[in-house]
Amino acid sequence: MAQQEGDSGNINIAIDGPAGAGKSTVARKVADKLGYVYVDTGAMYRAVTLSAQRLAVAADDHHALSALVKSLKIDLLPGEQGQSVYVNGEDVTSGIRSREVTSQVSYFAASGIVREVLSKMQRKLADRKGVVMDGRDIGTHVLPKAELKIFLTASASERALRRFKELPANDSVSLEQLEQEIRERDRLDEQREISPLIKASDAKVLDSSHMTIDEVVEAIVKLSRTKLAEAK
Ligand code: DC
Repeated sequence: MAQQEGDSGNINIAIDGPAGAGKSTVARKVADKLGYVYVDTGAMYRAVTLSAQRLAVAADDHHALSALVKSLKIDLLPGEQGQSVYVNGEDVTSGIRSREVTSQVSYFAASGIVREVLSKMQRKLADRKGVVMDGRDIGTHVLPKAELKIFLTASASERALRRFKELPANDSVSLEQLEQEIRERDRLDEQREISPLIKASDAKVLDSSHMTIDEVVEAIVKLSRTKLAEAK
């Protein structure tokens, strides 16, 4: 049975959930503990958004967007603060976190051609197993056969508060505004036609509203060890 989880003996772990639930921090830590590769798929959608904004390509311009996304080489490399993101060799790690990108990314993530190209890249990254991938559609669409699927969530007010605490002191955005933006992003991600944010039927739900990051990480590592043992 060991071959079921691939030649490496590893499994793939899909972590989906809404913005601000702690997915990327948790996924990175789980990957570190297991010696797995972490793949932040949101960063890939952000990289496409930044590239489109620079070239003034609109989210509904299918033709231009198709040419653009196919021309991008997106690399995710381990960096000092998690993962560094490169587009055609340029480091865009901080550029993709701007509020301009954050406020527009849901529109670009709703494009069928963008999702098709990025999903293909993501599947390739997970080919050899031993990957912890976070996003919105990993368990449902990108890696439907992932051995472990987690749906990580938290209340919108708790997620806004977490984002608020991470903001630089000179940022003037209010907590109410952040919560409103988070609710709007949830709405767009849940209601889009292609690969909306929904829980896979076989995903384990973890609500992190009242859990520390380390508690969530421990819970996922424990579940992954069970899956690994079952597969052997
Ligand atoms: O996780 P994040 O905030 O960096 O994600 C950025 C956006 O990309 C978010 O609006 C949802 C979208 N996204 C997606 O549609 N599918 C994924 N697999 C990952 C992110």
